[in-house]
Amino acid sequence: QVTALIAGAVGKDGYRHYMEKELHEHPLVIGQTLQRMVDPATRKVVLPPLPCDLATIPRGVITACGSAYYAGMIGRYWLEEIARLPIDIDVASELRYRNPPLTPGSLGMLISQSGETADTLAALRALKAIGLPVLSVLNAEHSTMARESDLVLGTVAGPEISVASTKAFTAQLTVLACLTIAMGRARGTLDEAGEDELVTALLDLPGKAAEVFSHQADIRKMAGIVAEARDVLYLGRGSAYPVAMEGALKLKEISYIHAEAYAAGEMKHGPISLIDRTVPIVATIPSGPLFEKTLSNLQEAKARGGRLLAFTDEAGAERLSAIAEHTIALPEVHPFVTPVIQTIGVQILAYETALLKGTDVDQPRNLAKSVTVE
Ligand code: G6P
Repeated sequence: QVTALIAGAVGKDGYRHYMEKELHEHPLVIGQTLQRMVDPATRKVVLPPLPCDLATIPRGVITACGSAYYAGMIGRYWLEEIARLPIDIDVASELRYRNPPLTPGSLGMLISQSGETADTLAALRALKAIGLPVLSVLNAEHSTMARESDLVLGTVAGPEISVASTKAFTAQLTVLACLTIAMGRARGTLDEAGEDELVTALLDLPGKAAEVFSHQADIRKMAGIVAEARDVLYLGRGSAYPVAMEGALKLKEISYIHAEAYAAGEMKHGPISLIDRTVPIVATIPSGPLFEKTLSNLQEAKARGGRLLAFTDEAGAERLSAIAEHTIALPEVHPFVTPVIQTIGVQILAYETALLKGTDVDQPRNLAKSVTVE
């Protein structure tokens, strides 16, 4: 099966849509990408030779478009917290014209499934023009970006046909997680036991990702509420915030329902005025250090008549069930990798909602898989 995916099998394999097939490939692509990055004998992350010294780079700058940008945002949380590397991040269409005063010696990092997105490619050239080394996280390893980058870290996701990205996103997260571990080791912020703990969490992921699909029927019930709405609010904190953004983007793209993602703590600065029975709130709230804070934001929303739909995990389920109309208890994983599991949940929700709306899941209107013009 691994060989078939790498070689580029492009049938639907009995699934209704490419998107459904590609969702089901999450466990496989996470596993394949890990096989490429983790030495099974030593259980250490092994990177190819890098265009810079990870121990001494002063900053990193991440840029991408669409879903890949949200993967980059999760990468920022990881790199800053675990490797203590300060990160600037911007969408490529802004970075390419912003002319930011980047610190000399910084590492440029790009993320792209296709390796051909016009804005990301232009940002790559802009970073190179000011002398920064560029590391790219790419699925298409023979693309223009691959040729122009100093180093490519490949996501082994196989061909992604559905316009809305799914499996490429979790493969990008897998690479960024491995990069974080390698950076943490090089920068002395992660000791051997710490590295082993995080690698174990990653190796655990394919199995846990497969378990997410046992909740598909419950997520379909949640989709019944979302499909009736005109507007949906997504809320999350920390690394679950970009997951909320990815969930909102996926819903907009394929079901044409307006969705907006907010950092849960920002809700009181605006979106709280939207809350009523007609605007469901999808919360990405894994157990972990930010659970209580997010829960209290959700209680505020509930007190104002909001209908809560929660993606949590086994440890958080009981508390959420008390206030949410639907609670999905995703498999419990190490807090480091919760965004990967949560992402699969919100992507399935978008897919199930689009099915109920009867939209063209694989080819949503006005969208292209690869945006090669500005
Ligand atoms: C398009 C696709 C998105 C994708 C984005 C960036 O908008 O519809 O799914 O996230 O481009 O594409 P890239 O190939 O650079 O990851």
